[in-house]
Amino acid sequence: MATSADYKLGEYAFARGWFAVANSSEVTRTPINVHYFGQDMVLYRGESGRVVMLDAWCPHMGTKLGSGETSATTTAAFFMEGDNIRCPFHAWRFGPDGKCNHIPYHDGPIPPGARVKPWRVEDRYGIVFTWHDPEGQEPDFDIAPFPEWDDPQWVRWQGLEPLCDLNHPIEIFDNMSDVAHLGHLHGGHAVTYENEYDRHLMHQRQSSAVEDNSSGLFGQTYSTIAGYVGPGIAFGRFREMGAAQIICVTPIDDGTCRAWQAAMVRSPSGVVDDTSRAMRDKASALFGGGLLRDGEVWAVKKPALHVMQLPSDGPFRQSRQWYSQFFNPRTKAAEILAPITGVHYAKGWPPFTPVDAAAE
Ligand code: FES
Ligand SMILES: [Fe+2]
Repeated sequence: MATSADYKLGEYAFARGWFAVANSSEVTRTPINVHYFGQDMVLYRGESGRVVMLDAWCPHMGTKLGSGETSATTTAAFFMEGDNIRCPFHAWRFGPDGKCNHIPYHDGPIPPGARVKPWRVEDRYGIVFTWHDPEGQEPDFDIAPFPEWDDPQWVRWQGLEPLCDLNHPIEIFDNMSDVAHLGHLHGGHAVTYENEYDRHLMHQRQSSAVEDNSSGLFGQTYSTIAGYVGPGIAFGRFREMGAAQIICVTPIDDGTCRAWQAAMVRSPSGVVDDTSRAMRDKASALFGGGLLRDGEVWAVKKPALHVMQLPSDGPFRQSRQWYSQFFNPRTKAAEILAPITGVHYAKGWPPFTPVDAAAE
């Protein structure tokens, strides 16, 4: 395992950005514990429907909020009141702002230190995202847009499907600038290819021809417009297929991460029905299966602390520089981005042209 410091990413072990922490369907009135960014949190849905995520360690005596299934508190009616949660040990009650707002056996003022950190969360696209920021500031960019979610012709995904829990997230991120592996690992040789860096956005645009038949798509050509919005959310749009994919990558500890994916498709008939839902499931399985080929490699490879980058490789070094902006104070972003902002090509691959250029 290698850490962010081993990769020389910057000042912080964990990047600034939006990250998936759960599917919305998993977040109910029954609290769950999650562990990301090297920290433990409790996650639940308040009575109002609001999703709440708090640091898990009770300031009273260190009990883990969300634990204690048999506690007299967690089994009592007052355990989850409104949007609050009580600690299983002595029933101190915490609000969505993280402040203790009731201690059942104490009638004096509540100590000001009786609070836990509240996390900023957004429930969007059926996924709960949180904003992680080592500088503790407000978000300076939004969650990746998926307008397909609100388009009635598109079949929504049913939640993120976990792919793997391993490796530093940079090893997954490297995929986005790895033109050579498309043919040699995935069996879809790139015909045109380019990457672009623009502030918190990274783009990968390519057209490919399928050269193996494990997917049953031999001979087909397709174009993908993919990229990252910040370090934790990647998108892919398969133009000719009418499909969109989300890949979420969230650090667990320094050097490990969880990757998930999900897919939506545009219904050819314009109606969401069993036929188009089956297409969605097939696309999701196809994309997930493609990522499992990467996963096989990730599971056993050594950390690539340095990439022996050939001119005909994609721009790994430039991509890693883009990625490093999120591991440093935001005041350094302009300096980090200045040498790489713009479009980059790999030797031997012409600039991106969509297969279906007429659709432009
Ligand atoms: S340890 Fe949480 S209320 Fe006592
Ligand atoms: Fe890949």
